[in-house]
Amino acid sequence: MLDRIHALTDDAFPEVVRLRRALHRRPELAFQEHETAALIARTLREIGIEPIEGVARTGVVAHIEGAQPGPTVALRADIDALPITEATGLDFASEIDGRMHACGHDAHTAMLLGAAQVLHALRADLAGTVRLVFQPSEEKARGGASVMIKDGVLGPMGGHGGPERIFGQHVFPELPAGTLGVRAGTFMASADEVYLTVRGTGGHAAAPHLLIDTVLAQAHVLTALQAVVARNRPPGVPSILSFGRVQADGATNVLPDEVRIAGTFRSMDEDWRFRAHDVIRRTAEKTAEAFGATCEVEIVVGYPVLRNDDAAAAFARETAVALVGADRVVDLPMWYASEDFAFYTKQIPGAFTVLGVGNEAEGITHGLHTPRMTVDEEALRTGTGFLAALAARQLAE
Ligand code: NI
Repeated sequence: MLDRIHALTDDAFPEVVRLRRALHRRPELAFQEHETAALIARTLREIGIEPIEGVARTGVVAHIEGAQPGPTVALRADIDALPITEATGLDFASEIDGRMHACGHDAHTAMLLGAAQVLHALRADLAGTVRLVFQPSEEKARGGASVMIKDGVLGPMGGHGGPERIFGQHVFPELPAGTLGVRAGTFMASADEVYLTVRGTGGHAAAPHLLIDTVLAQAHVLTALQAVVARNRPPGVPSILSFGRVQADGATNVLPDEVRIAGTFRSMDEDWRFRAHDVIRRTAEKTAEAFGATCEVEIVVGYPVLRNDDAAAAFARETAVALVGADRVVDLPMWYASEDFAFYTKQIPGAFTVLGVGNEAEGITHGLHTPRMTVDEEALRTGTGFLAALAARQLAE
């Protein structure tokens, strides 16, 4: 089976590269992926697969039915881009100002279409069904995954049963092209947005005794909040609280009425995550109060902790080793990024893996979500073969 997957992947590879470049030229933001969805549907029809369009607005679902009956396994790609202005200088760079596939979702989509071609050619040997999930809006909370689930992507659909397992992968410029990374258990963080508004009484900076100094109060609030992670976090539960925006619109001689602060809280444990929200609230409110100010706390709950099912991750690892050899398979540490794939693995067993796309010799080292991010396209051969092998081996078992 793997030899055939290698050969079929080599056949599909030029088309995968062509599709990735076509998608890269035309990046679309969350839930606006109309051209992208149309390209996906058209490509599936060309292969001979009938797509179900308009799932979660701009998502596409399709099925490859094996010759024998059996379970359903799902493969997911996210399809949206980011509000970033591209600076790669590639000849297939974004044609849309201020939009860029800077998280590799163009590659994810192209690889899943490539895997569809491979699996369609293998369907006589499959016992069961492969569900292809092209999901919109990974980048924007609350994420397209939860909408896809609401629209039934984990249940029976198009005459096919719901998937027993789901797999997805993400490109990863920090690993050399063609390596595959897997982690069992807790893998990626939950991510919640934290907004604080410290209010007091502004006025002349030379008369602080008559005012309530919001700038000083917020400095203490920010400092005190680090104690939430340092002092309340259970040992062994990784967690981060970072504030990237502080806006105090005063002047050298003017104290402002309010200061606005925004940050992110990330955790690798769902229980601690929600307990931490309470401690963050209490600490911010009471610290501000000590300075005569008030602090309004708003926490926007984002993606959950991504937990890979142990058996599904072990299966993905075995498949990776069989496909590319043990020396190109990496056991990953936890990753503090967040992913709405976590919504799927909360519902059914699955594994989210990474594909190395970096190439130092060619200067392909820029991180995800940056204007010069790109991928070594040779890695897409590995990623396409891996997706196909996961599904094919799952349905051959
Ligand atoms: Ni991404």
